[in-house]
Amino acid sequence: MPVRAAYLQFAPAYLEVDQNLAAVESLLRSVEADLIVLPELFTSGYFFQSKDDLEKVAEPIPNGQSVAALRSWADALGATLVAGLAERDGDNFYNSAVIVRPDGRVDTYRKVHLFYEETTLFEPGDLGFRVFEVDSSAGTSYRLGVMVCFDWYFPEAARTLALRGADVIAHPSNLVLPHCPDSMPVRARENHVFTITANRHGREEKEGESLRFIGMSEVCGPSGTILTRAEESANVVGIVEVDPHEARDRGINAHNDVLGDRRPDTYATDPMGATVTPSG
Ligand code: ACM
Repeated sequence: MPVRAAYLQFAPAYLEVDQNLAAVESLLRSVEADLIVLPELFTSGYFFQSKDDLEKVAEPIPNGQSVAALRSWADALGATLVAGLAERDGDNFYNSAVIVRPDGRVDTYRKVHLFYEETTLFEPGDLGFRVFEVDSSAGTSYRLGVMVCFDWYFPEAARTLALRGADVIAHPSNLVLPHCPDSMPVRARENHVFTITANRHGREEKEGESLRFIGMSEVCGPSGTILTRAEESANVVGIVEVDPHEARDRGINAHNDVLGDRRPDTYATDPMGATVTPSG
């Protein structure tokens, strides 16, 4: 049975958690989907003016206000939600994504590759790249991997998720660099997976510096096709029907396989190793 896969794109208001939850609730109201991906840091906005600002909005997982809202939406819609938010765990802060199933189960991914000033605010993710077994409302089981925004820049992230069995990669994002929307079809194709990038739009300022978020959320198929893509500045939910099991046949032709033909013994794993082979 097909799975209805969706991204939700909007422009979170800086530090306005209640307002952002209300905006998402209203965008979700009539949505019929099995899997809905929300942007990175969807409750708070992105460009923190200070660590104090981050502390105001970071929440424990799963006991915070935003996970409670996500649980109630997942239950009401019968959908699995993947959403980015600032996590507080003791004295540490993580740029995390939660995976919330309709039965209320919550899993967490903590962003591994921190971008720009995130490196001064958050700890790098310590849970690794994770793949979760998920069921659609019609009972189709599939495997869902999660990465957050800048993780796209490192092909190892999507590759690790594919090697761990992901059929679909959920990718909550706050993209500012222009390259990702044209790169995700490549990540999808080189790993033969579906990808769902949920980006935000709008602009945030800090000390005269401005970040513009580029929208263009998209769902890509395993052959690298863009199945649906949002405008740059729209509040929108984009939905497409996919068969996640299509990702599992990774044969390129009778002789080649996307993952099976890898030659890890020939790849660089040790950056200190020899880079030039002497000739003669
Ligand atoms: C990003 O990782 N938010 C660009």
